[in-house]
Amino acid sequence: MVEQSLWMQKVAADPGHSQWYIERFRQMARAGDDLAGEARFVDAMAARGARILDAGCGPGRVAGLLATAGHDVVGVDVDPELIEAAGQDHPGPRYLVGDLAELDLPSRGIAEPFDVIVSAGNVMTFVAPSTRVEILRRLRNHCADDGRTVIGFGADRDYDFDQFLDDAATAGFAVDLLLGTWDLRPFTGDSDFLVAVLRPGQREA
Ligand SMILES: C[S@@+](CC[C@H](N)C(=O)[O-])C[C@H]1O[C@@H](n2cnc3c(N)ncnc32)[C@H](O)[C@@H]1O
Repeated sequence: MVEQSLWMQKVAADPGHSQWYIERFRQMARAGDDLAGEARFVDAMAARGARILDAGCGPGRVAGLLATAGHDVVGVDVDPELIEAAGQDHPGPRYLVGDLAELDLPSRGIAEPFDVIVSAGNVMTFVAPSTRVEILRRLRNHCADDGRTVIGFGADRDYDFDQFLDDAATAGFAVDLLLGTWDLRPFTGDSDFLVAVLRPGQREA
């Protein structure tokens, strides 16, 4: 067993949390808000009909749009209520409940590797801190040798960007590109958000 994710600890403390989150995104969609920035970014990176994993897909906002764009998408999330909503609100991808710290898609009948793995919406700050490196290792192992993994999260969420980049290197990733936003602004010392485009690299000895 792995340490419970911070997200599921929140859900345990407040059983209405998942529905609140689902409804928040439904309301934004009804209001016509742009919820597609991350999906546009990933679509621009991917060949047509790419195999894409949305790691921590939540209610399917990113995964669903990528499936609509013609990609073969798998979404994994630890929260069963969010996965149920994903199937209702954004059908198309294959959605699975699972903790990324135990990610082993071949054992669930889904072949690796993926051309692009995306983890948007601060997922890495909601996992249990003790599982961060293991999650990155598993993402690296599910990423094609010539594939990319894109991870985005904000500052001031108890996961320093430098620590994340060290953890990514430990897990076997090399940095391709660091950005400060999903609309391609550069990452600087003042950035309050990081979008890291990682490629499989050398594992540390
Ligand atoms: C703020 S939500 C973002 C959801 C989605 N990526 C998006 O951008 O709309 C954070 C998500 O991380 C998921 N999560 C947190 N820890 C996880 C873990 N260990 N394994 C899988 N999913 C996890 C939560 O269940 C939740 O759906």
